[in-house]
Amino acid sequence: MLEVKTIVLGVTGSIAAYKAVDIANQLSRAGVKVDVVMTKEATKFVAPLSFRAVTGRAAVIDMFDASSEFNITHISLAGAANIVVIAPATANIIAKLATGIADDVLSCTVLATKAPVVIAPAMDVNMYGNPVTQENVSKLKERGFIFVGPRFGKLASGKEGLGRFANTEEIIGVISQVLGKKGDLANKHAVVTAGSTQEFIDPVRIITNRSSGKMGYALAEAARDRGAKVTLIAGPTLLTRPVGVEVINVCTAEEMFQAVKNAVPRADVLIMASAVADYRPKSTAKEKIKKKGAGLTLELELTPDILKEVSGDFIRIGFAAESENLVENATQKLQQKKLDLIVANDITAKDSGFGADSNRVTIIDKDGKAKKLPLLPKREVAEKVLDKVAKLIPPKEKRDLSRIEITLIQSDITGKRISIPQNSRFLFPQYGVPFTVETGIGDLRVHMKKPHSKYDKDHFHFSDWFKTHPELQGGDKLIIEVIEPMKRYRLKTE
Ligand SMILES: Cc1cc2nc3c(=O)[nH]c(=O)nc-3n(C[C@H](O)[C@H](O)[C@H](O)COP(=O)(O)O)c2cc1C
Repeated sequence: MLEVKTIVLGVTGSIAAYKAVDIANQLSRAGVKVDVVMTKEATKFVAPLSFRAVTGRAAVIDMFDASSEFNITHISLAGAANIVVIAPATANIIAKLATGIADDVLSCTVLATKAPVVIAPAMDVNMYGNPVTQENVSKLKERGFIFVGPRFGKLASGKEGLGRFANTEEIIGVISQVLGKKGDLANKHAVVTAGSTQEFIDPVRIITNRSSGKMGYALAEAARDRGAKVTLIAGPTLLTRPVGVEVINVCTAEEMFQAVKNAVPRADVLIMASAVADYRPKSTAKEKIKKKGAGLTLELELTPDILKEVSGDFIRIGFAAESENLVENATQKLQQKKLDLIVANDITAKDSGFGADSNRVTIIDKDGKAKKLPLLPKREVAEKVLDKVAKLIPPKEKRDLSRIEITLIQSDITGKRISIPQNSRFLFPQYGVPFTVETGIGDLRVHMKKPHSKYDKDHFHFSDWFKTHPELQGGDKLIIEVIEPMKRYRLKTE
C-alpha cells in the first residue's frame, strides 16, 4: 500500500530531529517517495544532507530557492502529497498551524494541502503542558489533524514527563493506517488471532508451542493498512503492540475461545493465525510439583476447537501448521471446520513457519484450489491472504440496501401479514409516509404507522397477496426488493 505514495515529511527545530532521518529512511526503503521539508531551525539540529542520503531527494528548506526542482515549491508539494507528516513537531509549528501563519515552506505546505496531516510533537514537558500549547493542539485536533504522541518518558532536558517524541514504529504505523483508510477492507471488521497459548501444569510450568505471533501480527497490521477495524487476540508474545489495532491479550486456549466468541458478532472475517494448544492438563496443580520418582504422567484433555465452535455471518480463515502431507492435511481441516480458506504452512523448513520472519505457504480455497506461494516475508504473505479475504467478504451496502429478507413465522400466515425485521426498518420509508408495494397481483398503497403508534407499527397487511400463495409456510423466506428507495418495493417469494 505504501509504495505508491508520496509523503511530505516536515522536520522542525527539536532535539529529536535526528530521529526523523530514521523515519525517512524506513519509509524510503518501503518504496515511498519522501519529500523532506525542513524549517531553518531544523537544519541546526540535523544536516539536510542526511535526508538526501536516505531519500535520494534534496530536502526543501527555502521557499525562494530559484534552483528548486519544484515550480512553486510550497504549492507543488502540497498538491503531490498523499499525506503530510510533521515529525518532530515543535511547539512553534503547532502554534503557527493553529493560527494559520504561513511564513516558511512547511507552514505554507500544510495550509495549502488537502491531504491528511499527522503531527508528532516533541518538546519539554512544560512547553507541552502550557495551556496555550494545549489550546493549539485541541484546535488542530478539532480540525482533523491527527496526533501521534507525545509520550511520557525521559526528555532531552533530563526531566521526565509528557513531551517525548513517539517512536518510529508508532509514527509509521499511524501513517500506514491513515493512508489505508480507503483500502479494500474499509469499514470491515477483522478479528485476527496470533501466537501460542499457554496451558498450566502448575504455577510455574506450562504446555505451549513455538508460535511467535509474527504471522498474526503481520495480518493485523496489513488489515489495518487496508482500512479494516482490527481486533487482535494475542497469546503471550514479545512483539510490539501494533498501533491502531485493538489488542486483547490472552493466555490459555479457553481465554482465547472466550475472546473470539465475544469479538465475532461484530466481525466480517475471522482469521485464526494462532497456534492454539489442542490439549491441556486435565487439572492444574495448585503448588509447584515436586521432583520425585523416575517419571511423571500428565493426564491431558482436549481444549475447545475455536474455529469449529464459533459460528455466525463472517468469513472464516484458518491456518494449518503441517510437517507432512501439507495440502492433504490442510484440505481436510478446511472441510472439517467449514472454512472459506486455509493457509497451510510447512513448518519443517528453518526459514518458514514458527518464529521466522518469512513464510512458505499454500493457500487453499473452499473449492480445493491450492496456490503455492514462494518464500515471502510474513507481511507479504498477509497481503496475499487479504487479497483473497477482500474478494470473499460480501459488500455490506448491496446486501442491506437492495433486498430485505423476511422469514415468515406461522402467525404471519394465519394473520395474513408480513412482519418487518427490526434491523430492516430503517430501509423503509419514514413511518407515516405512504409508499407502494408491487405484489404481482397489482400494486398496493401502504401507509406504515409511526413507531410510537399503538397500532400495527411494523406490519404490511397483504391478505389478497397471501391468497395467491397458499403454499407458503412458517420458515419460508420472502424478499422485499427495493425498486426506488423510499417509494417503491417489490414483494416476492424466494
Ligand atoms: C537545543 C534546543 C533544543 C530544542 N528542542 C525543542 C523541542 O524539542 N521542541 C520544541 O518545541 N522546541 C525546541 N526548541 C526550540 C525551538 O527550536 C524553537 O522554538 C524554534 O523557533 C522552532 O522553530 P521551528 O518550529 O520553525 O522549527 C529547542 C531549542 C534548542 C536550542
